[in-house]
Amino acid sequence: MCGIVGYIGTREAYPILIKGLHRLEYRGYDSAGCALISGSEGDYHLNIYKAKGKVSDLEIVAKDKDKSGTLGIAHTRWATHGAPSEANAHPHLSQSGNLTLVHNGIIENYGTLRQQLKKRGFVFQSETDTEVLVQLIEYVKTLPVTHGEKEWGLDEAVRRALSLVYGAYAIAVVDRREPNKIVCARKSSPLAVGVVEDNSEFFMASDASPIAEYTKQIVYLKDEEVAVIERGKQLEVFNLNGDRAEAEVKEVNVDLSMLDHEGYPHFMLKEIFDQPNVLKDCMRGRIVESPYSSEGKREPLMQVVLSAVTLNRRQLLRARRIIIVSCGTSWHAGLIGKQLIEHFCRIPVEVAYASEFRYSDPVIEPDDVVIPISQSGETADTLAAIQLAKQQGALIYGIVNGVGSSIAREAHTGTYIHVGPEIGVASTKAFTGQVVVLTLFALALGMAKGTVEQDEYQATIRELLEIPSKIEKVLEQNDKIKRLALTFTYARNFLYLGRGYNYPVALEGALKLKEISYIHAEGYPAAEMKHGPIALIDEEMPVIFLTNHHKRYQKVISNLQEVISRHGRILAIINEGDELVKSMVDNYIEVPETLSCLTPLISVIPLQLLSYHVAVAKGLNVDQPRNLAKSVTVE
Ligand code: AGP
Repeated sequence: MCGIVGYIGTREAYPILIKGLHRLEYRGYDSAGCALISGSEGDYHLNIYKAKGKVSDLEIVAKDKDKSGTLGIAHTRWATHGAPSEANAHPHLSQSGNLTLVHNGIIENYGTLRQQLKKRGFVFQSETDTEVLVQLIEYVKTLPVTHGEKEWGLDEAVRRALSLVYGAYAIAVVDRREPNKIVCARKSSPLAVGVVEDNSEFFMASDASPIAEYTKQIVYLKDEEVAVIERGKQLEVFNLNGDRAEAEVKEVNVDLSMLDHEGYPHFMLKEIFDQPNVLKDCMRGRIVESPYSSEGKREPLMQVVLSAVTLNRRQLLRARRIIIVSCGTSWHAGLIGKQLIEHFCRIPVEVAYASEFRYSDPVIEPDDVVIPISQSGETADTLAAIQLAKQQGALIYGIVNGVGSSIAREAHTGTYIHVGPEIGVASTKAFTGQVVVLTLFALALGMAKGTVEQDEYQATIRELLEIPSKIEKVLEQNDKIKRLALTFTYARNFLYLGRGYNYPVALEGALKLKEISYIHAEGYPAAEMKHGPIALIDEEMPVIFLTNHHKRYQKVISNLQEVISRHGRILAIINEGDELVKSMVDNYIEVPETLSCLTPLISVIPLQLLSYHVAVAKGLNVDQPRNLAKSVTVE
């Protein structure tokens, strides 16, 4: 979703802005633009370049133009108000041509403001809510002032204009008459400011990835804060009333090698193949040898240590209910989390779509624990859901990948997924990371509650440690999966069926296919098929059957028979050596056996690869599928 980059300093701004925009491409967008203040004392002007399409299209537009200047702002836009077009792309210019602004979020009262500004003579060039904001700032700037100057300064005008808007925003604004200043602000949309020690340079961006190669010192603006960034001066932060706020500098480490696809044709494939390693990172330091290990034992006792569970032990043990709130793939992980937590901790768990939860007038008790699950940590619906639950007294335990992200900061406590930045829009390694963290959480809390037997606890931990090498074995079958995928590109619909722990995997497999190959797919609990979707089955219909679940194996085999009798085109995911299913179906992928509760970590891998290869065979943009955004920062 929209991305902001800004720079003020001693170097040429344009290359820094373009590089930053490329770093933010993973968020998903449909147009791009930048503004530079060029010129010298007495003759500063704004050069604005925009393009529909990709950042590379913007580079073509700007190719032979004046790109000089050491101050600039840039943007990738994901259309909300008005179609993707050059006119709707940011930066937007004010009527006088002096101010320009980039914005991420939605100004909810833009319709009323637009009408009021039109009455005052403002003419609009775009359909966007953003243009309303830049005109509003211009209008506010010209209002009579009480301090004797002719016009409000840029920072004062921004503060006053923002107090008139509702909605979400992260903005960066410049005025060519104040050529050494960028004013930024945020509410519900993230914005980070990178600072260097001598204040000679400042970097702004929607997340740390465009900033990380220049500085590790980052200030994350808080809601309704305005940052005044002036060349050579200390960063100043204010609230909307103009009172000074603290600019808290955090040291942030981003592994830049994770932002590169390192020889893989796409980020998605790299991230699928990253899973064995990043899942080890995710478990690192969290599974340790137990101090109660007795020397005489053949194998040392292991234990799960999650500092957030230890520190919040009393409140977690008191929990009578856990509510998981999330969206999309993270919601699927939540469905698996429900089964894990109910099994190991015997606490009832509800799993809600964050977008529904926030408006459902939910009953939240002070003893409830709410777990937001989010890769980005910036999903607007999930953030709003936890803000609501927090107000009503629940403990918020975040399971988030984005370090320092809004959800991570809003949560009382939590466990980071630690799988590194995920760039491909279709979530892969974040999903398996979420499932691993949920497993660790369920084990740690189950042990604290005494609801898990030591034998099962030990066996699950040991098997969890084996998961990375078992995923490697699935990845070795990439060529076979690719060959199979090529036989399915004709399909217009797919059905994914699984039971128990494999049911959310069926949902996830279907979502992955929809997102990147634009083929309609549905995930269903295998036994529910006969209550409706069975009518869809014919010899054309691919049915992906997850049979690698030994707990309900016989039941799944009966469901499989039902599809075979109707001539469905089955691709079965089976446990290694399952001769029975092999004899029943034409196509299968063998995966290593594991414990029931860890099955999703194995069975999702062939489904990720299948979607990837179908989309590649169809010639589609796998990493940035149409209409989708990586970080969904609007509701
Ligand atoms: C996953 O492939 C999707 N792109 C999407 O469903 C995503 O999981 C959802 O938007 C939630 O995002 P989050 O995990 O960053 O909160």
